Amino acid sequence: VGDLTAADLKGKKVFVRADLNVPLDENQKITDDTRIRAAVPTIKYLISKGAKVILSSHLGRPKGVTPKFSLAPLVPRLSELLGIQVVKADDCIGPEVEKLVASLPEGGVLLLENVRFYKEEEKNEPEFAKKLASMADLYVNDAFGTAHRAHASTEGVTKFLKPSVAGFLLQKELDYLVGAVSNPKRPFAAIVGGSKVSSKIGVIESLLEKCDILLLGGGMIFTFYKAQGLTVGSSLVEEDKLDLATTLLEKAKAKGVSLLLPSDVVIADKFAPDANSKTVPASAIPDGWMGLDIGPESVKTFSEALGTTQTVIWNGPMGVFEFDKFAIGTEAIAKKLAELSGKGVTTIIGGGDSVAAVEKVGVADVMSHISTGGGASLELLEGKELPGVLALDEVERLSAKQIR
Ligand code: 3PG
Repeated sequence: VGDLTAADLKGKKVFVRADLNVPLDENQKITDDTRIRAAVPTIKYLISKGAKVILSSHLGRPKGVTPKFSLAPLVPRLSELLGIQVVKADDCIGPEVEKLVASLPEGGVLLLENVRFYKEEEKNEPEFAKKLASMADLYVNDAFGTAHRAHASTEGVTKFLKPSVAGFLLQKELDYLVGAVSNPKRPFAAIVGGSKVSSKIGVIESLLEKCDILLLGGGMIFTFYKAQGLTVGSSLVEEDKLDLATTLLEKAKAKGVSLLLPSDVVIADKFAPDANSKTVPASAIPDGWMGLDIGPESVKTFSEALGTTQTVIWNGPMGVFEFDKFAIGTEAIAKKLAELSGKGVTTIIGGGDSVAAVEKVGVADVMSHISTGGGASLELLEGKELPGVLALDEVERLSAKQIR
C-alpha cells in the first residue's frame, strides 16, 4: 500500500494522519499512550529524512470545537518520545496553520488541532479534504485505528494529494491482521471471546474459513450452550441468535475446524465483583446463577489445543476480566500466548478488550503483534476492506520484516 521508504522526503511537507485518539482522564492526563508510541516510528523516520511533518488526528467524537477534545495535552508526551519540541496549531486548516507550515524546518513536526472539530471531516467533504491536502506534498496514512472510516483526512484527502502511502504502523497492522491470518503458519488457532455472539458473527465466520482450531469463550458461549440444549441459568443469552449458533457449529464441523467450547465455567450469583462464585461443568449451571468466566478444566483443554499451533489470533476476553474473581480464564490465556510467543509462535492480539487483558497481565511486549485498532481490527478480521487503506496508492507491499 504505497512505499514510504521509496519516497523522496527531504524538505517535503508530509501530511501524516495518525490515530492519536488516546484516553484522557478528567484532568486531561493521558491514561494510555499506546497509540502515541505506535505512531512514533513513522514520524521519526520522516524526521530523519528531513521531511516537514504535518501531523493530524482526531480525538474522541466532538460536536464542533470542544476544548476537552483538544490535542494540546498530547504535545509533551509526543515531544518527549520524538526527542524534539512539537509545535501545536490551534486549528487544522486556515491562514494561521499555513503560516506555521511555512515556518516548519526540515525535521520539524507540527501537530494540527483535532480534525473532527470540523463536521466536514466525518462527512468527508471534498472541499475540506482539498484544504488539508493543499498544505503538503505527500500523504502518509498511519491511522490504522481510523482506517475503517471514510473521512476527509483518511480517505478524501488522497484524491487531492499524491503519492498517498501507508505509514509503518498501518503496514504492520495489515501484515499481521491480513497477511499472517490469510496465509498462516499452521496449525492456526483463533480464540474469540466477548459478551455477545452478535458482535462477533462476522469474525467467527471469516476465521472459520482460515483456521484449524477455534476456541470460544466469554459471554457468547451461553448462546451456543443453549443452542445445544443445555440449561444456562441466568447467563447472558441472545435468544435470536440460537439458530445462528447452531449454524456456526455445523459450519465448523463441515470445514473440519476443531471448535472447542469451554467444558466448565465459573458462575456467580450476581453480576458484581463481590458475587459468590463457584466452578461447575458447562452442563450444570443452576437456576439463578450466571457464567462469568471459563473454568480451570477449559483453560487446560484450551492450553493443550494451543500447544501445537504456529499462529494464534485472539479477539475478545474469556470472561468478565474487569472483575478480578472472573479474570482468571482471560489471564491464563494471555499467559499461555506469552509462553507460545517465546517459543516462536506468531501471536496476534486483535484489538479491543483482549489488548487490555494482555496489558493487565504485563505480557504485551512479548506478543508478535498487538493491534492498535478496535473497530478497524474487527472489520479487517471480518474480511472487509478498509476505506483508508483502499484509498492509498497500489504499489508492491513491504514485508513485515523490512518495516520493523
Ligand atoms: C477508535 O478509537 O476505535 C478509533 O480512534 C476510531 O474512533 P471512532 O470510532 O470515533 O471513529
